[in-house]
Amino acid sequence: MKDLPGTDASPPHPRRVVVEAPAKVNLGLKILRRRPDGYHDLDTVFQAVSLADTLTLAVGEASARPFEATARYCSPDGVCLEISGPDDVPCNEENLALKAARLIADETGHSLAGLHIHILKRIPPGGGLAGGSTDAAGILYGLKSLWALDLSGRRLRELGLRLGSDVPFCLLGGTARGHGRGERLIPIHRTLEFWMTMVNAGIRVNTSKAFSAFDPARHGKPGTLDPLVEALEYGRPTAFLASLENTFEDCVGDLYPGMADLKKELISAGASAALLSGSGATVWGLFWDETEARRAAQTLRTRFPFVEAVKPLPFGPWMRKQDR
Ligand code: C5P
Repeated sequence: MKDLPGTDASPPHPRRVVVEAPAKVNLGLKILRRRPDGYHDLDTVFQAVSLADTLTLAVGEASARPFEATARYCSPDGVCLEISGPDDVPCNEENLALKAARLIADETGHSLAGLHIHILKRIPPGGGLAGGSTDAAGILYGLKSLWALDLSGRRLRELGLRLGSDVPFCLLGGTARGHGRGERLIPIHRTLEFWMTMVNAGIRVNTSKAFSAFDPARHGKPGTLDPLVEALEYGRPTAFLASLENTFEDCVGDLYPGMADLKKELISAGASAALLSGSGATVWGLFWDETEARRAAQTLRTRFPFVEAVKPLPFGPWMRKQDR
C-alpha cells in the first residue's frame, strides 16, 4: 500500500553532515611489552582536546556545493575527497578517512558513489595527536548518521580498530584509560580541570619507527598509571604533576633530539609540567588557567610553526550541522 502524502512521520535522512573530529593527547603512556603480532601492549590515558578537524560529508545534490580545497581526489567508483590544509596529508586511497568510508560501506552494503568528503585539517599530521585516526573516527560517526545505520558504539569501535589503534578512543572521546593496543577502553570521570598548550616544531615522527626504538630492557619501567588515574578522578593537582610519564620520551631521543628543549621552552613560558604526546613530536604544557595557557601560546607562536592552547573535552566527535 502506498503511503498517503504527509503521513510518513519520520524525518528525511540528512544529505549533508558536518562533524567536528577532536585531537587527542596522552596524559600518560607506558609501553608494557612487545607482542608476537608486532604491536605493543600499552597502559595509557587518552584525553580528547578542543582542537578539531572539520569533516563535511555530503551526498546527492548537496554534494555539489563548492568547497575550497588545496587537494582533490575522485576515485573511479565515484567518491570524492577534498582536503584544505597542509599539502602533505595524503589525498588519495592512502587517506585513513577514505579507508574508513570504504570499510563502513563494505560492512553495510552501501555504495560510495556520489559521496563527497571534505576535511578542513587543523590537527598537524604525524604529531602524536591522532589527526588521521580522528578523521577516520569522524567518518564512521558521520556516515552512521548520513546513512541512518543501526550500528552500536561498540560495533563502530570494532570497525575503528581495523583502521588504527587510536580510532576506538577517537570514537569514544572524553578521558579514558586504554589497555591492549589502546582499544580496551575504560572511561575516566575526570574532576581535575586544566588547560594545555601544545607545541610542534614542525617535526613528524613515524609511529612504527618510534615503537621500534623501544627496548624493554632499557625503557621498560615498573609501576602502573593508577596514580595518574586517581589524581584525575579525585582532583589531586600535585599527584597529577608527579605521575605524568610517557615511555616514548626515553626512546625517541634519536628520532627527535629537540624534544627536551621544547619541554624546557614550555616550562619557561609558565607550564607546570610538559610531556610528549603519544610517539610525538607534539609536546604539551600543563596550565591551571586559560589565560596563562593562551599567553604562553602567544609567546611561543612567534618561534614554532604549530602552537595551540586547548582544553580537555568530555566527549568525542560531534555533529555541528545536519542539512536535509
Ligand atoms: O594501529 P596503528 O596502525 O595506528 O599503528 C601504527 C604502527 O604503530 C603499527 O604498525 C605498529 O608498528 C605500531 N604500534 C604498536 N603498538 C601499538 C600501536 C601501534 O607497535 N599499540
